[in-house]
Amino acid sequence: MSHGPVVLRADDARVAGLLAGGWRVVAESWAAELIAERAELERLERLVRGASAWGEVREIAASDVVAVLALDAATAGDYPGGVATRHEPLTRERARPTATRRAWAIVGGTGEVHAVTYVDVNGTCGETDFTVVARARRGRGLGTAVKAVSVLALVDEGVEVLRTGGSAENPASLAANTRLGYRVDERWVTLAPPA
Ligand SMILES: CC(C)(COP(=O)(O)OP(=O)(O)OC[C@H]1O[C@@H](n2cnc3c(N)ncnc32)[C@H](O)[C@@H]1OP(=O)(O)O)[C@@H](O)C(=O)NCCC(=O)NCCS
Repeated sequence: MSHGPVVLRADDARVAGLLAGGWRVVAESWAAELIAERAELERLERLVRGASAWGEVREIAASDVVAVLALDAATAGDYPGGVATRHEPLTRERARPTATRRAWAIVGGTGEVHAVTYVDVNGTCGETDFTVVARARRGRGLGTAVKAVSVLALVDEGVEVLRTGGSAENPASLAANTRLGYRVDERWVTLAPPA
C-alpha cells in the first residue's frame, strides 16, 4: 500500500513512531487563536488606518469578485509550506462572499484589490481561510490591516473566537497574526513516508 504525506499535531503520540520508522518531517505549521474579548480594538483600528492611503479597507461585495480572482491568480504560487497549508486557487463560487464566507479587502481607486482575507464563519467562531497581498504591495502593513478589519467587523457582530494558521516557513504571516493578538496554540507536522 502506498502512503502519501500525513499531517499530525506535533504532540501526537504517533509522530515518534513514524519518525522511528523512517518517516521524515517535510513541513511544519501552526494554528493560533484570538479570543474576541481580549482583542485590542484600538490597536486594530490603528492598523487599519495605517493602510487607508492604499485604498478602501472594507468588506468585499459581489462586484469585487473579478478583481479578487485576478489577485488570486497572480499569487497562486506564493504560499509556502506543504499540504497542510496549501491554498486552493479560488473559483468564482468560492470567491463569492456569503453570510458564512466573508471577505475583506483593500481596494484601490480603480477597483484593483491590493490585499484580501477570507474568513469562514460558523456560529460564534471565525476561521481565516487565507490572506494574500499583491506582490508589489507586500511588507507595507496591508496584510496585517486587512486581517485587522476582518477581526473588528466580526467581533462587532458577536463572533467570540477567531482562528487562523499558517506555515512555519511564512514569518510574515506569523508576525502579522502576532501583531493582531493571535496566540499560537497548536503546532502541526507533515510527515512523508520513507522513500
Ligand atoms: C503573508 C502576507 C499576507 C503578509 O502580508 P504583508 O502585507 O506582506 O505583511 P505586513 O506588511 O502586514 O507585515 C506583517 C509582519 O510581517 C513582517 N514581514 C513582512 N514581510 C516579511 C518577510 N518577508 N519576512 C519576515 N517578516 C516579514 C513585517 O515586519 C510585519 O511584522 P511586525 O508587525 O512585527 O512589524 C503576504 O506576504 C502574502 O501575501 N504572502 C503570500 C500568500 C501567503 O503566504 N499568505 C499567508 C498564508 S494564508
